[in-house]
Amino acid sequence: MKLCFLVEENYRYDGMPVEVIRRLHAWGHQVDVLRPGGSLHRMTEVVRAGSHDAWVLKTVSGGPGLTLLEAAASAGMTTVNDARSIRGVRDKALAAAIGRSRGLPMPTTYAAARPELLAEIPESDYPLVVKPADGSSGRAVHLLAAPDRLPALLPVLRGEGLLIAQPYVPNAGVDIKVYCVGDDFHATERRSPLHPDHPHRERRVPLSREVAALAAQVGAVYGLDLYGLDVLLGPDGPVVVDVNDFPSFRQVPDAASRVASAVLALAAGERPSVVGHAGWASPPGAGERAAAGAMAVAAGDAL
Ligand SMILES: Nc1ncnc2c1ncn2[C@@H]1O[C@H](COP(=O)(O)OP(=O)(O)O)[C@@H](O)[C@H]1O
Ligand SMILES: [Mg+2]
Repeated sequence: MKLCFLVEENYRYDGMPVEVIRRLHAWGHQVDVLRPGGSLHRMTEVVRAGSHDAWVLKTVSGGPGLTLLEAAASAGMTTVNDARSIRGVRDKALAAAIGRSRGLPMPTTYAAARPELLAEIPESDYPLVVKPADGSSGRAVHLLAAPDRLPALLPVLRGEGLLIAQPYVPNAGVDIKVYCVGDDFHATERRSPLHPDHPHRERRVPLSREVAALAAQVGAVYGLDLYGLDVLLGPDGPVVVDVNDFPSFRQVPDAASRVASAVLALAAGERPSVVGHAGWASPPGAGERAAAGAMAVAAGDAL
């Protein structure tokens, strides 16, 4: 197969995309690599229909990577993940709106284009978590105990672009990070950046049926193929606080081979059987029906 990988400069030496590309080469496939942030792009000629079996995106938010992938999709190319699905999760404000409207357990989410607007959030929603809508890797995530803490934070929040705010979901200080690749779901526990003093070492954990079903539902709702989600075990059950396209797959055994195999299957037009993949662009209802089927399968497969 012939693939085009969009890999940002900051992932250039990262094990995940580099190892996946190496594996694909070793299996005899051709992989062209584009560095969206490091090159000048002649956009009018960047995509030639039929030049690749699939385009694959592993980039940060905000760069031109998604624009290039969308250009490939517009020329009819298969993309991994689906370009529209990536849009749906890279903007955390949009992700919350889609997720809640499709029945995912996600916190109430406010969006504020200017940090001063956060002052309108009722006191009953505190403690509050504030984070950039296009954030990643725990950057600029803040916990506000009460409204009187907001003024001191305003200068720090300025320049972060669109912000989102959510009530803090009470939790034990660790995230369950679920990684989904093909039909496989893997879970690790990692210390929450909001609990830096929690004495916790990252480790793989078995996936409960409930969280496995939730992970399958996330794939169906957004239409993602390679993805991860951050789950907190709150007082009322698991809550999804973040969804990521093409995550690190840290701690997933033999992640590079698994991701490479999944990319090949997707490039060949095969979709994982677990996830129904109606996606958020389809009419409401289709995603839930797909997810309901997926949940039954995922729950059966869970550890
Ligand atoms: N509403 C929330 N309640 C409690 N903790 C949260 C909430 N939102 C985020 N967190 C914590 O902050 C971390 C980072 O937030 P997240 O939305 O995952 O942003 P990032 O894209 O930076 O990973 C999460 O992994 C979780 O530990
Ligand atoms: Mg996260």
